[in-house]
Amino acid sequence: MAIRLGDEAPDFTADTTEGRINFHEWKQGKWAVLFSHPRDFTPVCTTELGAVAKLKNEFERRNTKVIGLSVDPVTDHQRWAADIKDVTGADVNFPLIGDPDKSIANKYDMLHPNASDTATVRSVFIIGPDNKVKLTLTYPASTGRNFAELLRVIDSLQLTAGFKVATPADWKAGEDVIIVPAVSDEDARKQFPGFVAKKPYLRVTPQPKM
Ligand code: BEZ
Repeated sequence: MAIRLGDEAPDFTADTTEGRINFHEWKQGKWAVLFSHPRDFTPVCTTELGAVAKLKNEFERRNTKVIGLSVDPVTDHQRWAADIKDVTGADVNFPLIGDPDKSIANKYDMLHPNASDTATVRSVFIIGPDNKVKLTLTYPASTGRNFAELLRVIDSLQLTAGFKVATPADWKAGEDVIIVPAVSDEDARKQFPGFVAKKPYLRVTPQPKM
């Protein structure tokens, strides 16, 4: 069954390039990005894993752990890491799950048979400290992901978890935000003094400090 926003992220125990990991224990109290890639030793995936590795500090700054998955075994992930380093200059500095029996891929609905019978699609799950799914994305094998966009989304998720605001199109951290419609004008005047109402339903305010 598909995983929907607000669902508990299914727990699992798996072999990874950093040893055996129980997912919920590993991420305990933190945000997590769980993402799948189709296969090891493939070109787009090679660029993706290098890109994620280079963003490690950015994920850490956001109290976020990253973990990848494909249906290849851990021994393949380990051999492939040398190619990733060679091509992108980055050491794979986050765990990669080996899921040859596809049990985790099935739990997370990462196999889309009309796209591929055998390989996981490019799924992304952003999971909160409460283990609830906050965002899902699905890309086809032919399209590499923009991992800077995941950082932008995490900024929005973390901000909107703490304040009654939402973030507009193309928002980036530090830019103005929108007061959610559920907040009355009276409460908005207390919580966000000086907000600007562009429309009665579109009230803009500087980003609150986290
Ligand atoms: C790739 O990562 O380059 C890739 C993987 C599976 C199908 C197509 C491309």
